[in-house]
Amino acid sequence: MSLLVTNIGELVTWGEEPVITDAAFVVDKGLIVWVGHRLDAPEADAVNDVCGAAVIPGFVDSHTHLVFAGDRSAEFEARMTGQPYRAGGIRATVDATRAATDEQLAANIARHLAEMRAQGTTTVEIKSGYGLTVLDESRSLAIARQFTPETTYLGAHVVPSGTNVAAYVDLVTGPMLDACAPYARWVDVFCEAGAFDADAARTVLKAGMNAGLLPRIHANQLGHGPGVQVACEVGATAADHCTYLTDADISALADAGVVAGLLPGVEFSTRSPYPDARRLLDAGVTVSIATDCNPGSSYTSSMPFCVAVAVRDMGMSPREALWSATMGGAVSLRRDDVGRLTVGAKADYAVLNAPSFVHLAYRPGVPLVAAVG
Ligand code: NIG
Ligand code: FE
Repeated sequence: MSLLVTNIGELVTWGEEPVITDAAFVVDKGLIVWVGHRLDAPEADAVNDVCGAAVIPGFVDSHTHLVFAGDRSAEFEARMTGQPYRAGGIRATVDATRAATDEQLAANIARHLAEMRAQGTTTVEIKSGYGLTVLDESRSLAIARQFTPETTYLGAHVVPSGTNVAAYVDLVTGPMLDACAPYARWVDVFCEAGAFDADAARTVLKAGMNAGLLPRIHANQLGHGPGVQVACEVGATAADHCTYLTDADISALADAGVVAGLLPGVEFSTRSPYPDARRLLDAGVTVSIATDCNPGSSYTSSMPFCVAVAVRDMGMSPREALWSATMGGAVSLRRDDVGRLTVGAKADYAVLNAPSFVHLAYRPGVPLVAAVG
């Protein structure tokens, strides 16, 4: 049965006419089959009149850590009274995740995905990284795979307590990779002081690539470091965080065509300086925005919140931020069927309780997503 969604006050398509006023589109078998001006719309089996509301592509959250158990609100509270964020907090979530059953982990993912969908997110990437044993990483990915094809093997999140770094890299690039690769599309590594250095990051990404996985990286989050350069060198699709960048890092990202993934919830929740999106955009770098939803550094599931912060504090216009949270996420995941509302794309959209997408940043914290298709 085809569906005509019409009387759209402002339709964001990111197609030839990126934003259409007084618009409509037709959906058939889950795909967009027609987009244009309301008065030109063809007939369809059913009609949804959205009464002048804005409609946007569903958000593409290209970076989350949803396979976890436990709570770190005490750590957040300590940060808000002056403690710095430390990568070592990850180990607390590792203990809770290992102790959880498969059913508990799946229920936790389902709960967060429901939160995300209610806020307009229709595509989600999910990483492992709180298991750090062959069994716990592989079951994390097998569970995540039940919810999304965009699964990422992050065995190289931190070195587990009491383990030697070299031995752990051997495990991550050997038996753990063998067990995880069947459930993963991507390989990732946390390249940062306190986690993995450039050599280890290169080794992990190359091993993943040899096993058929696509590389992406956590880079330059807590300070200047080699992560971005490693991403460009191995041809990673995305370098996420990108908070501390030199001019050379920015040129390298632009030249290599690596997507810079910005995660505004992290700087918000760790009370850290925000990355300068303007500097990246002006250099021609493709920027994505994602939540990084995890219990440590960024426990938000809200893409509208991330868009609002990116506009307020990272130098992006509302249009740039929405592009990065939809198309940018799609580019970051090498997907051409989501993040846009053009003919042939999946009919993944959010109807806003607002006349314009600008309200996503103009009305921060307000639940503006009225419906998700
Ligand atoms: O993306 N940076 C590394 N990993 C997560 C944080 C995980 C945690 O603190 O539990 C991140 O910020
Ligand atoms: Fe992350």
